[in-house]
Amino acid sequence: MAIRTIRVMGDEVLNKVCKEVTKVNDHTLELIDDMFDTMYEANGVGLAAPQVGVLKRIVVIDVTGEDPILLINPKIVEMSGEQQGSEGCLSVPGKAGIVTRANYVKVVAQNEKLETIEVEGTELLARALQHEIDHLDGHLYVEKVEGELQNVRPASEDDEDEE
Ligand code: NI
Repeated sequence: MAIRTIRVMGDEVLNKVCKEVTKVNDHTLELIDDMFDTMYEANGVGLAAPQVGVLKRIVVIDVTGEDPILLINPKIVEMSGEQQGSEGCLSVPGKAGIVTRANYVKVVAQNEKLETIEVEGTELLARALQHEIDHLDGHLYVEKVEGELQNVRPASEDDEDEE
């Protein structure tokens, strides 16, 4: 287990489309462990593999600090409703902006055994799911911000809303 370096906006790895995962080996499991460690260390609620420089369709999310979710090859299969709220990203440090997202999403993905799983979420979890899956297609939330990106205080122990 190790903390990996989080890539920041401007690094071209964040703008690439990630590859489907077709096998999970020890290397992949180590990456997943490291992604959780890196997310928790940075007080984030989600992290996608390209944010640590790996172009694979893998996402980790934990919006409460007690509900770790691993998603391999996630796809949004249902979405409904609308929510507008402030969003941040570990790859865009010190910034936040208002983004409108679906208020509910259903995601089909695979777990570490490549078994099919379904995850449903509303509100913050729905936002995190959409935000992280966007990362796998090379998209950052800043493309969707309404109005200006806001400056926020530097990341600290108290920040909990960065993805
Ligand atoms: Ni992000």
